[in-house]
Amino acid sequence: MCGIVGYLGQRDGRAVVLDGLRRLEYRGYDSAGIAVVANGAVDYRKKAGKIANLAADLDAHPLPVTGTAIGHTRWATHGAPTDANSHPHVAKRAAVVHNGIIENFTVLRAELEREGAVFSSDTDSEVAVHLLERELVAGSGLVQGMRAVVAQLEGAFTLVAIDAEDPDRIVAARRNSPLVVGVGEGEYFLASDVAAFIEHTRDAIELGQDQVVELTPEGVSVTGFDGGPAETREFRIDWDLEAAQKQGFDWYMRKEIFEQPKAVADTLLGRLNQHGELMLDELHISPELLRRVNKIVIVACGTAFYAGLVAKYAIEHWTRIPCEVELASEFRYRDPIIDPATLVVTISQSGETADTLMAIRHAREQQAKVIAICNTNGATIPRESDAVIYTHAGPEIGVASTKGFTTQVVACYLLGLYLAQVRGMKYGDEIAAILAELETMPRLMQEVLDNQAPVLELAAELKDAPSVLFLGRHVGYPVALEGALKLKELAYIHAEGFAAGELKHGPIALVSQGLPMFVVVPPRGRDQLRDKVISNIAEVRARGARTIVLAEAGDDEARANADTFIELPKVSTLLQPLVATVPLQLFACELATLLGHDVDQPRNLAKSVTVE
Ligand code: F6R
Repeated sequence: MCGIVGYLGQRDGRAVVLDGLRRLEYRGYDSAGIAVVANGAVDYRKKAGKIANLAADLDAHPLPVTGTAIGHTRWATHGAPTDANSHPHVAKRAAVVHNGIIENFTVLRAELEREGAVFSSDTDSEVAVHLLERELVAGSGLVQGMRAVVAQLEGAFTLVAIDAEDPDRIVAARRNSPLVVGVGEGEYFLASDVAAFIEHTRDAIELGQDQVVELTPEGVSVTGFDGGPAETREFRIDWDLEAAQKQGFDWYMRKEIFEQPKAVADTLLGRLNQHGELMLDELHISPELLRRVNKIVIVACGTAFYAGLVAKYAIEHWTRIPCEVELASEFRYRDPIIDPATLVVTISQSGETADTLMAIRHAREQQAKVIAICNTNGATIPRESDAVIYTHAGPEIGVASTKGFTTQVVACYLLGLYLAQVRGMKYGDEIAAILAELETMPRLMQEVLDNQAPVLELAAELKDAPSVLFLGRHVGYPVALEGALKLKELAYIHAEGFAAGELKHGPIALVSQGLPMFVVVPPRGRDQLRDKVISNIAEVRARGARTIVLAEAGDDEARANADTFIELPKVSTLLQPLVATVPLQLFACELATLLGHDVDQPRNLAKSVTVE
């Protein structure tokens, strides 16, 4: 939610920042802007719309060349996406970009206006620049001024600032909002995400909560909001620029769909020892403690929540520990019953989702242990959790989650199997078999991808459908929900996922002649479950629905009920989401492409939602 970039060095800062913004555009694409310090003044350009608009404006009205620049790409919260509401916000000396929400901005704005400050936007963010200006005019330096500003702010923020009278310095501060520092040879970067500077350096510093960072030609200095020493972590980014580029695909999302076999393989890598036992050494929660757990609560949002729904079936089956799944945005507001014997598992691709972060804080206040499943090294969510299992999906840039989801599901399986292992569950053989089967999943997912042609043809046929329904039972139910979410967010058409058994309790009234209905059929072997789903297909077909049936190859009964049959490889029921989700992702991506939508940056969305 909003992307921030800063550069201090010898290069043309305007170009470095503009390139960085392009790589962060997935975080928000309502408007963008850049400010520089040159010739004793702050100069800036900002434009509503995508970064291409800003780039065109910069071509027409270039900024002065300088090695000190900051930039911002916005996902609007307060104030419409207009030029005036774009960042940077600029006063006489100071320019500031902001990510987050300043909750007490109304009070601060009134106070500043009483003192004569003139506001030119409707944003909460603009108060930050006027507060900073007041400090600079009163004689503070940029660092001191920033400390004084953050002391007055409530809410979540990353702020990055420059001062016209101090051209070789950029100062930033962060609370509840991401910021990383990139360290190059005599040049330094600030960004919401390492993707912004990976092209220039892979050495990075992760900042902690409530820290101020100062970039000068002499180096990087980090202190706490109170000016005291601060703890940071240096790390080396383990993926490269190529991983963050499209590599010949039309969309990042399509590339990421095709990366799933590798992402799943990487997430499994190194987690089994030579005896076939699971090793989750990174967990840093003792087996004794895991043996005492009497309830698991999974908390997440959106697609990650659906990964959690899949996990519930698997974890309860393998561990016999009661497992609840809860939307993070609901969790803390309903006074949930959690205690030190509760294990809270949070799932977040970005590691920055505010609803999930707040749920973690609430859970830890109640003394529960929190394990994060996360794809972003060093993000706030893993940092604030007791332990983390990283998914190794690599950068996910398409706003709609794909490989994020399937690797989250894999990490949940690993956690469930590990809990079963440490608790000595009686399913020894089943667990060994599932672990062995998990190793085959990358190959089977590749098979599904290799057979994409019927799915693409189907998207062309259904291009004008006003509504599409998705049905599933057991783990097929979250798959149906995820299929519907992908279609809603990318193609902007009405789509709903239902538990197939619920159909007759209401939603069947929606079924009309020709309505496309995807149905996920469980593999053979769980015949009771499968028979029920096949009956559900017959029920909707009898009422005129056009059935698109996803079932394992050779399931002739399912095929007989299908207007379109999408073949899945044979897998165990619990693992089926890994193969069944892939055609639904491809379908949504293709349909949205055919409709002419921007698949990577759907309207109104942003990749990480850092506001509640
Ligand atoms: C949908 C999607 C979102 C995210 C949700 C949580 O395609 O991507 O629903 O899954 O916003 O995001 P993370 O996993 O970053 O916490």
